[in-house]
Amino acid sequence: MKILVVGKGGREHAILTAISESPSETELYSFPGSDAIFDLAQPLSNAEHPVETVASLIAAMQRVGIDLCVAGEESYLVREEGLANACAVAGIPCWGPPKESAQLEASKEFAKEFLVRHGIPTGGYAGVNSIDEARSAIAGRYPTVLKFDGLAAGKGVAVCPDEASAEEFLNEVLVERKFGEGRLLVEEFLEGPEISIFASLVDRDYQILAPARDYKRIYDGDEGPNTGGMGAVSSLEMLDAELRAQIEDQIVRPTVEGLIADGLPYRGFLYFGLMLTKDGPKVIEYNCRFGDPEAEAVLPMVRGDFATYLFEAAKGALRPDLISFSEGWSICLVSASAGYPASSRSGDFISGLDQVSGARVFHSGTRRSAAGNYETAGGRVLVISASGATRAEAVAKVYAESDKVDFAGRQRRSDIGTRNF
Ligand code: AMP
Ligand code: GLY
Repeated sequence: MKILVVGKGGREHAILTAISESPSETELYSFPGSDAIFDLAQPLSNAEHPVETVASLIAAMQRVGIDLCVAGEESYLVREEGLANACAVAGIPCWGPPKESAQLEASKEFAKEFLVRHGIPTGGYAGVNSIDEARSAIAGRYPTVLKFDGLAAGKGVAVCPDEASAEEFLNEVLVERKFGEGRLLVEEFLEGPEISIFASLVDRDYQILAPARDYKRIYDGDEGPNTGGMGAVSSLEMLDAELRAQIEDQIVRPTVEGLIADGLPYRGFLYFGLMLTKDGPKVIEYNCRFGDPEAEAVLPMVRGDFATYLFEAAKGALRPDLISFSEGWSICLVSASAGYPASSRSGDFISGLDQVSGARVFHSGTRRSAAGNYETAGGRVLVISASGATRAEAVAKVYAESDKVDFAGRQRRSDIGTRNF
C-alpha cells in the first residue's frame, strides 16, 4: 500500500510513524515533508517533477501510484480545487474532507452558523466588518474573544481581558489587516477546562478516539500569547462515561447528522475543540484534521493496523475493530525556538537527540545542516512524547527525556501534564 501524508510538521511525523508501525506492508511518501520525515517516507516532490499546485500534487500521486492520500494539515483541503475534491476526480482515496466541508475549519463564521443551525452547544457570537461594529458587539463586556475569520496558523485569536487589549487586536486585524482581508467574530467568553475530542468520520459513521488536552499559551501557568500548542496530554481516563455520552449525544452525533442534512460529505478526522463549562460542554471550534501537538500524544497510543484503518475509512468503511488505544497516559512536550511565537530563530544546533531513549522525537521545525546534524528551522522545533501507567509517570519520563536535548534559546513549559488537572 503506497500512502502519502500531506504536511511537514510534528503531526505528520507522528501520523507517518503510526502508519509505519502498522503490521500492513506500506510504502510511505511525504509532501512537502522535512528532512526528519524523509528518514521514514520518500519525498513526493523532486527537482524533475516539482509539486506546487493541487493539480501537480495529484499528477505526482498518479506517477508513483499512491493508494491513499492522508491530509495531515488543512491548507491543501481548501486551496484551489481542494485536495480531497481533486483526489475524488482522480479516483484516489483521500482521508480528509472536500473543500465545501472543510469550511468548518477555514471559516469560523461558517462553523458558528452550522453549530447554531443544528442546535449544537456553543458560545454566542457576532460577525463584524469594522471596528465600530466590533465595539458595539463587545458592548463593554470583558473578557471578550476576538477571532479573525480565516486561517491564521493559530494566531488569529485573542482572548482580551480589557478594552486596551481588544483595541490593539482590532487595529491589527481590521486596520493593519495583519492576516489579510476577512471578517472578525466577537465571541462570548467561555470558562472551564478545555478538551480536544477527535473522531474519525466516514459518511454516516463515526468513531470517537482518545481525547487530549493541549496547552496553547507560551508560558507556564497559561500565561503569555497563544501559540500553535506547547504540549499535550492524552488518556482514555480523561473522559468518564457520563461526560463521554454527553459529548457524543449533544455534540458529535448532531455534527455528523448536521453534515448529512447540509449535504456536506466528510471522510477524515474531525477535531472538536470543547470548553467544559458549568452549563455543559460547548464547541469552541472545529478543525478538519488531527490536532498538532495532540497527534504527537494521541497517536503513539494507537495499537492495531492504523494503515489499513485509514485506507478502509477513506474508501468508505469505518472499521473500529482495526485499532485500539493503550491504557495509561501519553504526554508530549514541545521545544520551541527563541522568539516564538512572535517570530522564530533558525540555525541553532540541536544537541542530544541520540541520547533520547524510551520516548519518541517528532520533528516540527528542524533541518539537517550541511554538517549532517539537525538544527532549528521554525517556531515549534521538536516534540518529545512519552507514556506511563500514570500521568505522573508520563510527566517524569517526558521531562527526563526532553532534558537530554537542547539548543540555544530553547523555550519549553515546565507544567505540561500537571497544569489544569
Ligand atoms: P481557537 O483557535 O478558536 O481554538 O482558539 C484558540 C484558543 O483561544 C482556544 O483553545 C481557547 O483557549 C481560546 N478561546 C477561543 N474561543 C474562546 C471562547 N469563546 N472563550 C474562551 N476562550 C476561547
Ligand atoms: N493544537 C491545536 C490545533 O491543532 O489546532
